[in-house]
Amino acid sequence: MYLTKEEEKIYDGELGWAYQISMRILVKLGDLYGAKRLIPIGSAHISGVSYKTINDAPIEFLRALLESGGRVKVKATTNPSGIDYSNPIFTLLPAELIGKQKAIVDLYKEMGIEDSLTCTPYYIEPPKSGTHLSWAESSAVIYANSIFNAWTNREGGPSALASALIGKTPNYGLHMPENRRFSALVKVEAAIRSEADYGALGIYLGKILGNRIPLISGLSSRDEDFLKQMGAAMATSGSVPMFYLGKPETVEAHEIITVENRDIQNVYENLSSALEKPDLIFIGCPHCSLNEIKTIASLIKGRKVKSDVKLWVCTSRFIRKKASDYVRVIEASGGQVICDTCAVVTWLRDLGIDTLMTNSAKTAYYAPLTNKVKVVFSTLKDCMIAACAE
Ligand code: F3S
Repeated sequence: MYLTKEEEKIYDGELGWAYQISMRILVKLGDLYGAKRLIPIGSAHISGVSYKTINDAPIEFLRALLESGGRVKVKATTNPSGIDYSNPIFTLLPAELIGKQKAIVDLYKEMGIEDSLTCTPYYIEPPKSGTHLSWAESSAVIYANSIFNAWTNREGGPSALASALIGKTPNYGLHMPENRRFSALVKVEAAIRSEADYGALGIYLGKILGNRIPLISGLSSRDEDFLKQMGAAMATSGSVPMFYLGKPETVEAHEIITVENRDIQNVYENLSSALEKPDLIFIGCPHCSLNEIKTIASLIKGRKVKSDVKLWVCTSRFIRKKASDYVRVIEASGGQVICDTCAVVTWLRDLGIDTLMTNSAKTAYYAPLTNKVKVVFSTLKDCMIAACAE
């Protein structure tokens, strides 16, 4: 890979170890994928924040970066952690977890990385069309590429962090126009109506598509909250980095995938592993938009959450503040609007949760694997019916 004189100096360690190791990570990645050069990025979004998901090993690495002078060169944001420190629920967790989680977030902050702690950083600052990014968090990547036409590969935590410190990313994959073309056509013949249907469709398609980009036709709505569910799910069961919507001009030379009602029904059946009553109703994977919080408030207004179930609505602090009127309605009904974390990246079993119900296909897919809980997957409306007393 070609490096400028300045980049070579960094590579050779003239600016210190933090920048040297970051440059070496990027060059290694670039060489692996055939990049010819580095390109500047508008922002980085860093995953690997929850202590539950990363454990101890990366903490020493982060500390070493900080101590050798590592500071970010571009705007950088963080994915959810394992704890909302403003919510007393999380004081039930062991003190060691609480302390380690705080240490991780503090290390990122000291490197100049924002403690946004959300998987929907695009609600805080939408990326501009055509901007190159280095984003980890697969649900944010597919949303940025497809909805904003920003350009990012699916980064891992370390490569997004390296890009944040250098301010650049290797030019390969989704940074190149020829790699952003669709290579499969999807004809949706199933009745896809709710946000959960969109998520189920995403799980079905992700398994078939792998890392290919689809052009999807036959969707009745382009509601961005629904598309967020579909994208997050496609990036979960597969590694789809981007999708297009619309009818193809020509169907030659592309695989055609037809989706029927029974395909979606099968996903619902496979994602639901529990028959019993849930302990937790979880909404907000990916983190809720203002509009989703408004919808939840309208569904719950004047009702009460049952005494034997918890309702969590997860979002960013930014959206929670903007939605303060709706938050009041949800909390008056007995729900919790939680920030900085989600049901997947916190220690659910330590919080006494064995069974959760969610409208998120991504959570329904992951939670039994990562949190060892049973899941009921259904629509937001059904979730609210299950949460509230008659
Ligand atoms: Fe976000 Fe947690 Fe889902 S990080 S995408 S709410 S698993």
